[in-house]
Amino acid sequence: MDLGLQGKRVILLAASKGLGKAMATEFVREGAEVLISSRDPENLFSAAQEIKQEVGGDGPAPHTHVCDITSAKAIEELFEAASDKLGGVDVLINNAGGPPAGSFMQFKDEDWQQAFELNLLSFIRASRLAVPQMQDAGGGRILNIASSSIKQPIDGLILSNTFRTGIAGLSKSLANEYAKDNILVNTIGPGRIGTERVEELDNKQATRRGLSTEEVKAEAETKIPMGRYGEPEEFAKTAVYLASFANTYMTGETLVVDGGYVKAL
Ligand SMILES: NC(=O)c1ccc[n+]([C@@H]2O[C@H](COP(=O)([O-])OP(=O)(O)OC[C@H]3O[C@@H](n4cnc5c(N)ncnc54)[C@H](OP(=O)(O)O)[C@@H]3O)[C@@H](O)[C@H]2O)c1
Repeated sequence: MDLGLQGKRVILLAASKGLGKAMATEFVREGAEVLISSRDPENLFSAAQEIKQEVGGDGPAPHTHVCDITSAKAIEELFEAASDKLGGVDVLINNAGGPPAGSFMQFKDEDWQQAFELNLLSFIRASRLAVPQMQDAGGGRILNIASSSIKQPIDGLILSNTFRTGIAGLSKSLANEYAKDNILVNTIGPGRIGTERVEELDNKQATRRGLSTEEVKAEAETKIPMGRYGEPEEFAKTAVYLASFANTYMTGETLVVDGGYVKAL
């Protein structure tokens, strides 16, 4: 299947590692012009080189731009860089680092505010800059990376549970508002995909419960019908299809890629 991504201009937030990097790799493989961003220049530049190596061939490495998505100014500068380097944007992948784990009484107003800025306001700001450019270009795709908690909240992740469902609401509303402009907006929720974030969460849980990280992982795997964590590439393939121009009729959707973990219909 042709995903219609050849030469399309793709911006990915928070894409030096994990799911963001895996999606960037698939976009480059599909011949898109890709701009990846994250806070740490070293992470970012090595990610760009690794993506180039992984995809192989004579193609260029993805463009890079350092951007902390909790800053409105940094997001504006990212879009300015995209105008310089790509000439605009056809596909926006809204992604972020995960908020800290913890339960309700642990968090103060500052923690809620920070999680809002990282996990929801950043997506709002980036989408607000992307939409007019997509309207001018005759269409576009926005894909929001959330969590399986959009369908089933996860114990001990109150900040994530709260703001991911905000993403789903935002996404559905934008999908309704901009379908007329051929801008398709979807949300995708990873279940348990083997990235640094998940390893970090498993480590924390292991310390708290006096178990090894392997024991925590093995226990988590028993709750996944597929019996294992997903690979970032498995997540990326679904995500990139949803954000591609082969997807012409699915919008406002919230999908999970979770090996069957979520029990809801
Ligand atoms: N993996 C899973 O199974 C899973 C499950 C549910 C939800 N999620 C969510 O999906 C998202 C991606 O997960 P992941 O597993 O790929 O995480 P990850 O491996 O921890 O990668 C996070 C990426 O975000 C960047 N980042 C973090 N804070 C940032 C900021 N303020 N501004 C810009 N970039 C920032 C990091 O790069 P720098 O450090 O260079 O900034 C890194 O590239 C997270 O929100 C996570 O909570 C993941």
